[in-house]
Amino acid sequence: MSTITGESLLEQLNWRYATKKFDATKKISAPDWAVLEQALVLTASSYGLQPWKFIVVTDPALKAKLRPASWNQAQVEDCSHLVVFTAKQDISEADVDRFIARIAEVRGGAVESLAGYKGFMVGDLVKGARHAIIQEWAARQTYIAMGNLLTSAALLGIDACPFEGIEPAKYDEILGLQGTGYATVAACPLGYRASDDKYASVPKVRFETKDVVEHR
Ligand SMILES: Cc1cc2nc3c(=O)[nH]c(=O)nc-3n(C[C@H](O)[C@H](O)[C@H](O)COP(=O)(O)O)c2cc1C
Repeated sequence: MSTITGESLLEQLNWRYATKKFDATKKISAPDWAVLEQALVLTASSYGLQPWKFIVVTDPALKAKLRPASWNQAQVEDCSHLVVFTAKQDISEADVDRFIARIAEVRGGAVESLAGYKGFMVGDLVKGARHAIIQEWAARQTYIAMGNLLTSAALLGIDACPFEGIEPAKYDEILGLQGTGYATVAACPLGYRASDDKYASVPKVRFETKDVVEHR
């Protein structure tokens, strides 16, 4: 069942833009933030493994520390909430077991009945060729979460700016991620645009649909 018209979906996707200047006085309400947090949690991932942790920074002192590690971009300090996307640095058999146990817990049924699914994941991600690129694989999953967050925020009328302009190693240090098994991939400040952010009104630059979408 559709709960949103195509027209309003496109309207919000056109409304959103990579916000360069946030109004530092405007904060995302707790109920709205709770929705965005659930949007992050509900993100799709390969096998459903969710190889991530999302760190939500609202503490002004911590934001101030992160700004120099973010190419000095002002959005880090002026936003309401800064999401740091971190990816799991390794996937072990124990990680797969933890996920399998969660499936059994949520859906009911025996862990043993999921042995085939477990074997498939272990064969691919733990013992298979993909293990060599497991950090890259996990990072890709976090980008899906970032896309999901951007769209969800846009639908709620909340502004955001996807951020790759950061120094991940410095983020790891500032956030104390060493030894946790997670490392920073990207970030996303969210909040409300400043009324004088000129980027809000510049036309979107996109290639012609026919140049990026092929029908066969
Ligand atoms: C993965 C990714 C990383 C980005 N990094 C930054 C960034 O560090 N700083 C910034 O101001 N914009 C950043 N952008 C915003 C893009 O420049 C912007 O999305 C693009 O120009 C399209 O414009 P629009 O999002 O306003 O439609 C990033 C976008 C993506 C998707």
